[in-house]
Amino acid sequence: MKVIYTDKSQIIASRVAKNLGAPLGRVKMSRFPDNELYIRADELDNETVIVSSLPDAESIVELLLLIDACEGSEVTLVIPYMAYARQDKQFNTGEPISIRAIATALSRGVARIITVNIHEPEVLKYFDAPTKNISIAPAIGEYIAGTGLENPLILAPDDGAWAFAKGVAAAHGWDCDHLDKTRLSGVEVTIEKKDVGVFGRHVIIVDDIISTGGTLATAAEMLAAEGAESISAACVHGVFSGGGYARLVAAGFSGVASSDTIERGCSLISAAPAIAEALRR
Ligand code: R5P
Repeated sequence: MKVIYTDKSQIIASRVAKNLGAPLGRVKMSRFPDNELYIRADELDNETVIVSSLPDAESIVELLLLIDACEGSEVTLVIPYMAYARQDKQFNTGEPISIRAIATALSRGVARIITVNIHEPEVLKYFDAPTKNISIAPAIGEYIAGTGLENPLILAPDDGAWAFAKGVAAAHGWDCDHLDKTRLSGVEVTIEKKDVGVFGRHVIIVDDIISTGGTLATAAEMLAAEGAESISAACVHGVFSGGGYARLVAAGFSGVASSDTIERGCSLISAAPAIAEALRR
């Protein structure tokens, strides 16, 4: 079995290969004069693991080409960050179900698919291959334990992320609660005032995705007003669009950590061990 990757997933793919004790195949990438992508994978084995997050549209094209290049090999597709997973319904007429469009295209030629904390597991039904969604909440818990913060309070920004927050806190016996967020638009949210007992506590807000940082910045304002001792954040997918990371720093977060599903300077948690374990099963 060989592990190969698309360009923006080289680090996580290398870690998955190392955890599996499998060779990392090389993928050559260049461009045609008209800027179209050219890719060529090293000689493949009978079984291939493609590790490919989809942080942008170009990664989707690259992945489609790579899957096609693997014809003749049994492909397991690992998508650590699945883009377009949040447009999972037709909210208004004339809109696509974006995740359905992308999932259908990515399924051709693939034997099975593994995702990591996909925003809404229900959308996995749009893939035409068997799927498995894994959670790295325990790895985030381990990371928080390693920071040495005493008796942290783990908070989810909304009810939807509460199960994830419980997964972070569970093995350590930390207190865990959730706030109540209402999304007003793609960039605006409100968070209801709620007494979750943050006075004098080290609060860590955990979420599957930090995108614009609006959710967490709004939460931090409320928590600071209620006397939290420190506020930090940990997430699986650090999208940080439109200056999202800087927004959190400006909002007073003492630390922001994400995983390597999207490779960032603050990717202090690796999803690779959990992915390798899922691949071994
Ligand atoms: C939404 O339900 C997700 O779990 C995140 O809370 C959301 O994507 C965060 O977006 P933003 O950082 O733009 O507020």
